[in-house]
Amino acid sequence: MAAPAQVYIAQSVLTPPETPPIGSERKPIHNWPEPETEPEEVYFEIPWTSSSQETDGNFNVPHQDVLLLHGPKQKYEHTKKQPIPVLENEREMLVEVEVVGLNPIDWKAPDFGFGLPDLPCISGRDLAGKVVRSPRAKSRFDVGDSVMAISTDYRDSRKSAYQQFAAVSDFNACRLPHNISAQEAAPLGVAFVAAALALGICIGMDFLVTSGGPRGPDLLRIVQSISRDSLPKDIHQECFDGINKNERAKAGDWIAIWGGSSATGCCAVQLAKLAGLKVVAVIDVARSGERMLRHGADLLVDRLDEERAISIVKGITKGKLRFGLDTIGKPTAIRLAQGMQSESGVDSKAHLVGLTGLPKEPTNGVVYHSVPIKAFHEAPDVGEGLMIWLEKLLENGLLATPDIEVADGGLEGINAALDRLRNGSVNGPRIVVPLRS
Ligand SMILES: NC(=O)c1ccc[n+]([C@@H]2O[C@H](COP(=O)([O-])OP(=O)(O)OC[C@H]3O[C@@H](n4cnc5c(N)ncnc54)[C@H](OP(=O)(O)O)[C@@H]3O)[C@@H](O)[C@H]2O)c1
Repeated sequence: MAAPAQVYIAQSVLTPPETPPIGSERKPIHNWPEPETEPEEVYFEIPWTSSSQETDGNFNVPHQDVLLLHGPKQKYEHTKKQPIPVLENEREMLVEVEVVGLNPIDWKAPDFGFGLPDLPCISGRDLAGKVVRSPRAKSRFDVGDSVMAISTDYRDSRKSAYQQFAAVSDFNACRLPHNISAQEAAPLGVAFVAAALALGICIGMDFLVTSGGPRGPDLLRIVQSISRDSLPKDIHQECFDGINKNERAKAGDWIAIWGGSSATGCCAVQLAKLAGLKVVAVIDVARSGERMLRHGADLLVDRLDEERAISIVKGITKGKLRFGLDTIGKPTAIRLAQGMQSESGVDSKAHLVGLTGLPKEPTNGVVYHSVPIKAFHEAPDVGEGLMIWLEKLLENGLLATPDIEVADGGLEGINAALDRLRNGSVNGPRIVVPLRS
């Protein structure tokens, strides 16, 4: 199919960065899948099946509608009569997508040409729907189950959300309890996974020890029990050498979360509280303070005066803050690093995770971390441990799902919904798009 001639230029820009003009030398902001890394070599080919293969059991749908991205700075193109994704191994199942959750990366990747696989590709990382074909292996899932799925494997279009049917590894899916609808669940996945990996692997928080909640996984121990060779090289440092055993975050420690009101930040606040930490949330207190208190934050610090915010954080933690998570960008990560800088010769190092960027310069006594997001789909035990824990958290009402705004139009409505994220006119709720009206 020929690439459409129309070139998409972002419209008004408030909080998000501006789309660089075509041909511009300007460096894009890299915030997915790993901050500050160049796009990796592309090798992906969409392994479409022919329609005749898709006739087993009760599932007999010959083709589907998808959104295809043909190039950077273009809109997603609604395309009919595309084949159904092939299931490539015995742990994969086919899920009918009912609701898509939009993420910032869904517009940033095409606008900045970053984190794009071979084109054309299908995007979309968060989805909820029903299993229409179960895994061939013995599995927790069966046809008809309601699930949410997280597609962190952005190079594999079979798994992406902007299509009617998606291939899902059973260890990357969470069964939805009766108290959670597909619309509520759809926007949670990436935020939960990013927050859990940041806390569980980068700073070594052990979710086995949760105050009152169901036992969660010790992600650092799980990932370190896997052989290095079975994980991609670019996450070795983070998974195997990022933090010493004796420096791991534990109950009673302080953590500061800059951008605590973002979807990822909200998950991080709640998970850190479950693990018994004391949480400072740096946020717009007037806008999000009430929500943060509901999530259990111990201290709210207003983000509008950053210098003052850091001096409050330092004062409260007596200059010994050892754990920080920034969900906003490099400038706020720099601020947070300043707040963690060792002044009194504390023995243990401090650990700062940047979801969207990290300081370029080293900070005395502070180790920088990026989220090893690939561990979720590359290490089945990590993925499954997280998904089973998530099921229990949701069932017991221990993790709140993000506030949502429902956009209409199905697949065809996604471009307009992404424009609202791009131009900053939605700041707070997550946009979800039901595929059937
Ligand atoms: N590396 C990874 O693997 C990974 C994974 C997931 C997400 N990410 C990235 O992480 C970032 C956050 O994602 P998200 O989906 O959680 O975001 P989101 O839900 O869209 O959150 C954005 C929120 O951040 C708050 N905010 C804006 N500017 C701020 C500032 N200067 N200081 C503090 N808070 C500020 C705003 O709330 P208030 O105005 O109410 O403060 C806004 O609602 C995105 O850039 C995303 O691409 C990376």
